[in-house]
Amino acid sequence: MSFTLHGKTALVTGAGRGIGRSIASQLAAAGAAVLCTDLDAAVVEETASIITAAGGKAAQVAGNLTDPAFPQAVVDATLARFGSLDIIVNNAGYTWDNVIQKISDEQFQAMLDIHLVAPFRVLRAASQWIRETAKKETAEGRRVMRKVVNITSISGTDGNAGQAGYGSGKAGVIGLTKTLAKEWGRYNVNVNAVGFGLIETRLIQPIVDKPQTIDVAGRQISVGVQEKTIEVMKAMCPLGRLGTPDEAAGAVVFFCSPLSDYVSGEVLIASGGAHF
Ligand SMILES: NC(=O)c1ccc[n+]([C@@H]2O[C@H](COP(=O)([O-])OP(=O)(O)OC[C@H]3O[C@@H](n4cnc5c(N)ncnc54)[C@H](O)[C@@H]3O)[C@@H](O)[C@H]2O)c1
Repeated sequence: MSFTLHGKTALVTGAGRGIGRSIASQLAAAGAAVLCTDLDAAVVEETASIITAAGGKAAQVAGNLTDPAFPQAVVDATLARFGSLDIIVNNAGYTWDNVIQKISDEQFQAMLDIHLVAPFRVLRAASQWIRETAKKETAEGRRVMRKVVNITSISGTDGNAGQAGYGSGKAGVIGLTKTLAKEWGRYNVNVNAVGFGLIETRLIQPIVDKPQTIDVAGRQISVGVQEKTIEVMKAMCPLGRLGTPDEAAGAVVFFCSPLSDYVSGEVLIASGGAHF
């Protein structure tokens, strides 16, 4: 059994690198036109080039999703470029960790802003077009399924020491997912979440001497996981290893495909069986 996403348009946030790049590439390989967006212009341009070089359809828009106006701009850009919006993957994110006594208000809020508020604004921005289009399709006697996939983490479902902000944002987006599944079922939208365990990207790179930093809109954020912790996670993982971005993307593509047309409001954990 196979499926195609030919004729579908996807919007993927955080598509410049890591799991988001794999999601965008796999959706394009399945036939979707993909609007790739990311904070970092150079990397998201590269994602779109990789897709088009492979014969897929892609365009890119760079910007900061925590800027209140940008989610609407990116939804409008998708509709202007491809004339449709059938799949939304809220993937952009990063970790900014510490134990609770060392977390500033700014740090905690930043985690809610990117993992919860930004997906909310993207979905609210898309809601008018989705509702109006679905009503027209229904009046014509057609049922067209659309897809929302929000990215969460086992930090949100299980909790993880050192991630009060990240875990709260990732738990919050599950509430958003389950709520929208109920509000948007009548518009034929499947709304689901995929939660990852440890996936090999820059966020969980092994800390050798001191943590590496990433630049997030001018803030230098320490990322990475102690090598010892990675070994413990591997030992706790039934599959005995970390996941690859392509493996993580596979679970997302399931929720973007017709294979999940009767699944909504669910959280699929892609962690090799590992839990915190
Ligand atoms: N890697 C893991 O082990 C892991 C585990 C669980 C969940 N996740 C989640 O998966 C998603 C993808 O993470 P990844 O590991 O691929 O990380 P990554 O850093 O490789 O990619 C994330 C992308 O999101 C973009 N981004 C961050 N903040 C943004 C903003 N304000 N506006 C626009 N773009 C922004 C970054 O520029 C980056 O290109 C995130 O939501 C992350 O929390 C990752």
